[in-house]
Amino acid sequence: MKTRILKILRNSDEYISGQSLCNELGVSRTAIWKYMNQLKEDGYIIEASQNKGYKITEYPDILTEAELGSLFENEYFGNKIYYYDELDSTNNMAKKKAEDGASHGTLVITECQNGGRGRRGKKWISPSGSGIWMSFILRPEIHPYTASMLTLVAALAAVSALKKIGGLNCNIKWPNDIVVNGKKVCGILTEMSSELDAVNYVIIGIGFNVNTTEFDEDIRTIASSLFLETGLKIKRSQVVADFAKCFEKYYKIFIQTQDMNGLMNEYNSLLINAGKEVKINNIKSEFIGNAIGINERGELLVKKQDGSIENIMSGEVSVRGLYGYV
Ligand code: BTN
Repeated sequence: MKTRILKILRNSDEYISGQSLCNELGVSRTAIWKYMNQLKEDGYIIEASQNKGYKITEYPDILTEAELGSLFENEYFGNKIYYYDELDSTNNMAKKKAEDGASHGTLVITECQNGGRGRRGKKWISPSGSGIWMSFILRPEIHPYTASMLTLVAALAAVSALKKIGGLNCNIKWPNDIVVNGKKVCGILTEMSSELDAVNYVIIGIGFNVNTTEFDEDIRTIASSLFLETGLKIKRSQVVADFAKCFEKYYKIFIQTQDMNGLMNEYNSLLINAGKEVKINNIKSEFIGNAIGINERGELLVKKQDGSIENIMSGEVSVRGLYGYV
């Protein structure tokens, strides 16, 4: 009910009368008054006028189910939202929810993670108030070997969402780091449960550094936040809603061909590594080459010094610029 009230108030610049809320939602005036008080406790500033009704004048920077639900307009993505004040990792909770049967598009989101995980066993620092730490549960009917491409699909959605914030110079560092002015502001961790030839579920975990003001010394030169790069304090719920909308759009394109065919050109136009010397480090070898772009399987094509082209698959591989992060 809170979600529905928020949606109605959010979509109107005018005051909404208590009576029209009662009529539309089928509840009493007293019930409306109670929900308004709850919303005020959540941090919404609501002007109430005897004659005119209710109007929200300020929105808090929160990520609750009601706040997000009132912004989402998707077919699947975010139709079910689980919000927590604190978790170890949204990916861990999403796995539990998926094992319990959570539906395609379910979102798990938290204010703070005390055991946030990054790729290749790294920690992901996820303090309260400053970022977006969330995971989507997907149930795609695809072959397991194509699932890693969903990370690239999510990266495209992240850039599209961030581009809605004016003037951002936003790119992708293959496969899935989102980079603003050469520094990482967002990372994606994809995990999967599958049989040999069928996917049970895929968890797409995304971390956005939004209003972070300081980073630990060891990552200060490569990590940044949207606030540090733009000087703007950004409402996190709008970024989540924009991301979910873009992710659903790109996901539908991906699922048609079950590869990057329909998205490859857009991805390559955003690829910060394209045309640059990169150092590839995987379990087998380390070599230097010139990054060309991705192919329809999402592999990074790298031209080696002997002229041959190597297809790099994401996974246990690190791609670095010759002189630094990109
Ligand atoms: C990376 O770039 O190394 C991936 C970082 C992924 C971080 C997100 S935050 C939400 C989700 N839960 C986690 O524990 N990790 C991902």
